[in-house]
Amino acid sequence: MHPNMKKVLISEEQIVQRCSELGKQISDDYRNNAQPPLLVALLKGSVPFLAELIKHIELEIQFDFMAVSSYEGTESIGDIKINKDLDCSVKGVDILLVEDIVDTGKTLQTVKAMLKNKGAASVRVVTLLDKPERRTVEIEADYVGFAVPNEFVVGFGLDFNQKYRNLPYVGVLKEECYQTTA
Ligand code: IMP
Repeated sequence: MHPNMKKVLISEEQIVQRCSELGKQISDDYRNNAQPPLLVALLKGSVPFLAELIKHIELEIQFDFMAVSSYEGTESIGDIKINKDLDCSVKGVDILLVEDIVDTGKTLQTVKAMLKNKGAASVRVVTLLDKPERRTVEIEADYVGFAVPNEFVVGFGLDFNQKYRNLPYVGVLKEECYQTTA
């Protein structure tokens, strides 16, 4: 375990197992669809989750990336800014949005509305983590890996000040590590 980590909430084995279940469920749900979904992953946090999840989807999917900023430090704030838009058109496309965590739900709500405005045929959401206690807008993901308590978590893509994304598990840092940006 990383020396700054207080506890591991979700192990690598649990994540891989859950991704395999989600991949199967997604494959079943889209199997008879006219077209396979376009996976749209939100940078940077959802990259490890996307990489694991797509191994378990038995469809000819494609993926693309968007970057939005929605928070600083440990609190979600204000409006969402688009830092990188999609490379391809989404008109008539069935989109599966890939998120690392749904916290207040504002990012998801905004991005979902934006993709629908651009003419996406449908937008569903798969998230590795869900923090239902923190929700301020009414929105739910269609596929959830794990629900987590109201604690700031890092690892498997999730960061604190851009660090800890490469940890292969999800956990909570020791209190003193959240005090400093060093
Ligand atoms: P929302 O718009 O409040 O749902 O925020 C979603 C985004 O905030 C996520 O995609 C994360 O990047 C970030 N975020 C929220 N909670 C956490 C956390 O516990 N750890 C790391 N990032 C988080």
